Parts: sequence; C-alpha cells; structure tokens
Amino acid sequence: MEDLSPRPGDLEPIETASRDEITGLQLDRMKWSLDHAYHNSPFYKERFDAAGVHPSDLKTLADLAKFPFTVKTDLRDTYPFGMFAVPREKLSRIHASSGTTGKPTVVGYTAKDIDTWANLMARSIRASGGRAGDIAHIAYGYGLFTGGLGAHYGAERLGCTVVPISGGMTERQVTLISDFKPRIIMVTPSYMLSILDEFRRQGLDPRKSSLAVGIFGAEPWTNAMREEIEQAFDMHAVDIYGLSEIMGPGVANECVETKDGLHIWEDHFYPEIIDPVTGAVLPDGEIGELVFTTLTKEGLPIIRYRTRDLTRLLPGTARSMRRIEKITGRSDDMMILRGVNVFPTQIEEQILKCRGLAPHFQIELVRAGRMDNMIVHVECTHLAADAQSRDASAKELAHHIKSIVGVSTKINIKDPDSVARSEGKAKRVIDNRPKGQ
Ligand code: DLL
Repeated sequence: MEDLSPRPGDLEPIETASRDEITGLQLDRMKWSLDHAYHNSPFYKERFDAAGVHPSDLKTLADLAKFPFTVKTDLRDTYPFGMFAVPREKLSRIHASSGTTGKPTVVGYTAKDIDTWANLMARSIRASGGRAGDIAHIAYGYGLFTGGLGAHYGAERLGCTVVPISGGMTERQVTLISDFKPRIIMVTPSYMLSILDEFRRQGLDPRKSSLAVGIFGAEPWTNAMREEIEQAFDMHAVDIYGLSEIMGPGVANECVETKDGLHIWEDHFYPEIIDPVTGAVLPDGEIGELVFTTLTKEGLPIIRYRTRDLTRLLPGTARSMRRIEKITGRSDDMMILRGVNVFPTQIEEQILKCRGLAPHFQIELVRAGRMDNMIVHVECTHLAADAQSRDASAKELAHHIKSIVGVSTKINIKDPDSVARSEGKAKRVIDNRPKGQ
C-alpha cells in the first residue's frame, strides 16, 4: 500500500499546534458557546438556571463539569425545532436521525455551520490519505442521514471529483467503481463487505480496483475487520466518527499514517469521558462514556451531550489533538449474559479469526426459562460450505467466544449470502426475548 503521510504544508496550523494553543482556543470558544446557548436557546437558559449555573461560572475548561448534561430525549422532547439557538429562517439545512423508536432527532445548521462542517470533513478526508484531484465515490446514504451530504461537501471542499451514488444498488456500485476508477470510497464498513461480495460475484479482483483509501464509519467495526478489508482490496481502511447531534461525520478521524485511534477535531468539539453511572468526569486514559460540547456551532449549540459511545481519551500522535480509541460499542448495544457484558464487535472479532466463516453475522437474543441466551447466525464461506466444515467452524467459533469473550453461545452456520445485508448501518442484534419481563 502507498505511503500516504502528509506532505509539508498539507496540514492546517492548528493540527500541529501546541497543547497550550489548543486549550487556549478551546477556553475562548467554550465561553462563547455557553453564552450563545444560554442567551439564545430557551432550553439551555432553563437548564442552566435550574442547575444554578451561569456561563460566567466557567473560568477554566474543567469548570464545564458544573454544567448539566444534554441527552437524546432532550432533542426528542423539544421536537422538531425547540433547541435551536437561531431563528428558523437562519438555518440553511436540517438533518435528522431516524432512531429505532418514536420521532426522529432533528438537527439544524446555519450557513456558517455547514461551512465549518465542510472544512472538518475535508480535513478528515485528507487525514485519511485523500487529496485534491481524487475521485471520491460516496456510498453513504444521502438524505436526512448526515453521512452522504456531510461526506459530499467535505470532498468537494478538498477539491475532489465527487460521485454522489448514495447507498444501495450494489451491482451498480461495482460497475461505477470499475468504470470511474475512484481513489477514495466513503461507506459504512458493513456495506463495504457487500460491495466486496459483489466484486467477487462479478468475477472481478478487488485488489486490482482503483481504490486506495476507504473512509469507514457510522457504526462500530474492529481492527480485525480493517485487516480483512485492507487485504481484500489492497487499500487503506481508515475510521471516521461523528454523530448528528454534534455535527455529523467528521467529529474525529484516524490518520492514515498511524491508524491508532481517531483524532478529535478539538478546535470545534470539546470531549470528556464520564462514568456512565455517576456522571463524574474521568481522567484521560480511562474507559467511559464520551461526552461532547460544541465550541463553534451556531444553529444548535450542544452542551455536554452524552453520546452513549464507550471509549477513552488518548494523547495526540500524528496530530496534537487528542484521540479516542476505536469505539467498541454503545452502551445501548451492550448485552448482558449471565453477568458478562458483551458487545457485537467482540463477536465480530472472533468470527474474523475463523477461516471457514464470512464476516456477515447477526446476533439473536432469546430467553429459555429465566436465562438469556445468544445465538450467533453467521455465514460460511463458499469454500467451507460442506457439512463437515460447517461443523468444524461452529465448534471453532463457539470455542473462541467462550474462551475470549467468556460466554457460551449457540452457533447457527448459514449458507453463503443468506444473512440480511445492510446498505447503511448494519443491524447486528435481534432481540427476540419476550417483552415486558
Ligand atoms: O452515523 C454520522 C456518520 C456518518 C459518522 C458517516 C461516520 C460516517 P448518527 O446516525 O447520528 O450519525 O449516528 C451516530 O453512530 O453515536 C455512534 O454510536 C455510531 N458511530 C458513528 N461513527 C462511528 C464509528 C452518524 N466510526 C452514532 N465507530 C454514534 C463506531 C460510530 N460507532
């Protein structure tokens, strides 16, 4: 694979600034953001007043801990436009995330917010190894989801030629990759696996494709999956993180030269890690729930948003800004089986160790008596589809999961191409336990 380290002059000065410079900027911007939220969003005025805090109480970055959290239900409760801090006419765009239940979460951007987002996405694509002049194939969904349009504006800002194909129609994705020869692809990692299958189905060698950089996010994926994709396509696979409430994709991004976790664009977002139970701020290095405060957002400033994503803060490496460790899961995705906490990514990691299995899987939760059980539905590869190989793969996977994750599971080996494919975020867990017990 190509060495894609940045060349002299590629980076913005803030990306390599001193920590003092970064924290100085953060403090100035945080004061502005608290003030803006308090004076222009009735929601925040009420919240701060109820908690007995005022923006002027923030003298240092650590003082942020005095301020109340914001949670997803706050956005739902003020649906659709109740949390905005500018008059609706000043918003140039709305996005929304569907969520699993009830009303969507609506977010809004001023023209300046859109401009900042484009800059941060351009920075993210460049960190991933993208350059002006590249063709960028964007297979994140376009529409209310932030993935497609977020990636689109960033790639244009960087100077790429954008192919706005959106998700779906996998056969056509492969045709256009073969014909247009993009250097960059931006897509969820699970959909990239469907594209990989389609390459093989069409008898094309994915390693011979033009793709050199994949920018994958919107769902958890493991380093084992990275290796799988990098080997299959002979390309770099880089992690991108973000969430609608804070902006969309491009809140944090890995650097292609290190691939050691995602640098948070700390000049626009202030991260904290908290104990999810007590809400106490934890020191850097400790695992907990990621919380973000926006530092420059006009339309929808967000103070201490609880993401539910679990990770830890690490010092900067390829950039001065701090990193988050690759996200292993959301607290919402955590399954508890006989007292053991299990995330779908842990199962993914073990599946990728088994040569007879393909990385397409779903986890079904069932209840037998008072016990919760987990069934892993996973596909075998075409080469290991005979009864004997299936049996061996099932035993091997059950053994890895038992010895490394620590739970007993039932394994259901399915035919190739029989696990439902996603065209966006994969649905990994199906909960078939009786409701309300
Ligand atoms: O998924 C934004 C996005 C689009 C990010 C494209 C990256 C690429 P939401 O739909 O609001 O926004 O979902 C946000 O997705 O809180 C995480 O739980 C999860 N997530 C996003 N990126 C990653 C990642 C977009 N790289 C939620 N690793 C977040 C793990 C991720 N989880």
